[in-house]
Amino acid sequence: MPKLILGGGSNVLLCHDFDGLVIKMNIQGIDVIREDDDHIYLVAGAGVNWHELVQFCVQQGYAGMENLALIPGTVGAAPLQNIGAYGVELEQVFESLTAVHTQTGERRTFSHADCQFGYRESVFKRELKSHYIITSVTFQLNKRPTFHTRYGAIQETLTEMGVSEDKLSIKAISDAVIRIRRSKLPDPAQIGNAGSFFKNPEIPKTQFDTLKEQFAELPGYPIGDEAVKVPAGWLIEQAGWKGHRVGDAGVHSKQALVLVNYGNATGQELLNLARQVRDSVQEKFGIAITPEVNVV
Ligand code: EPU
Repeated sequence: MPKLILGGGSNVLLCHDFDGLVIKMNIQGIDVIREDDDHIYLVAGAGVNWHELVQFCVQQGYAGMENLALIPGTVGAAPLQNIGAYGVELEQVFESLTAVHTQTGERRTFSHADCQFGYRESVFKRELKSHYIITSVTFQLNKRPTFHTRYGAIQETLTEMGVSEDKLSIKAISDAVIRIRRSKLPDPAQIGNAGSFFKNPEIPKTQFDTLKEQFAELPGYPIGDEAVKVPAGWLIEQAGWKGHRVGDAGVHSKQALVLVNYGNATGQELLNLARQVRDSVQEKFGIAITPEVNVV
């Protein structure tokens, strides 16, 4: 029988009933398993709520995850797509995971290298898709924090919060990230959404330079010398979609990369809207954007 493993369900767009077995991952538990001079190693069950794990680490003073506060979903889903936000990706705190093979029941440990992490990517989204059920994840956290405050509005939010450089802490960063996310991203408990619907595309530098002649404001972050990552939210906004609504399916008014369900839109209606958005970005900029969410 085909199996669909659900964590929080927060990154899934369901377009029809699933013909098979849906398994809701609910393995709990957070345990410190060892430490050395610099690190704390902690194992968490795949069903642990991600934000609760982040808050636990922040309270204990285990550094590394504070920029990943308030991401919806579970621990087991986190490595699957190497979740990331505000300048940090899961792979920076990842040590290993255990998983069970769906056909043979074999239990296997995956190292960092085995997972083949990329931008919102891992082997579990590609070659091993649906072959393994992740059951626990081991994290390597730092006893001495390195603060990541350069991304976007973190620094100015800290200033707004009255946190000066000498008062900086992982708690302050986590609070700043929570504040930014609440101001920009819709709460899935209130308005249905799966966070960013598309990934930020990487385009060749030559294409970026040509586009820049036509669209002087086009933002971009260099990836090496040959490629540039472009924010899909900007492309979608410029294509006129921000705040657009078709029935109950819409493009969020504060963050154009997020598609929202105001209540009764079907999965198919959201997918149709996503296709229109994708096509118009392709037409206006010649850039292909691909979904970040898992479409079932
Ligand atoms: N922008 C616009 N208009 C918009 C949205 C964005 O012009 O409506 C432009 C702005 O130039 C802005 C830039 O896009 O400076 C980046 O926007 P933002 O910082 O909001 O981040 P993002 O690239 O849209 C990514 C992640 C988010 C993560 C944030 C913060 C992806 C696909 N998404 O979004 O992750 O929270 O950065 O780090 O990489 C998710 O994966 O579900 C998710 C929410």
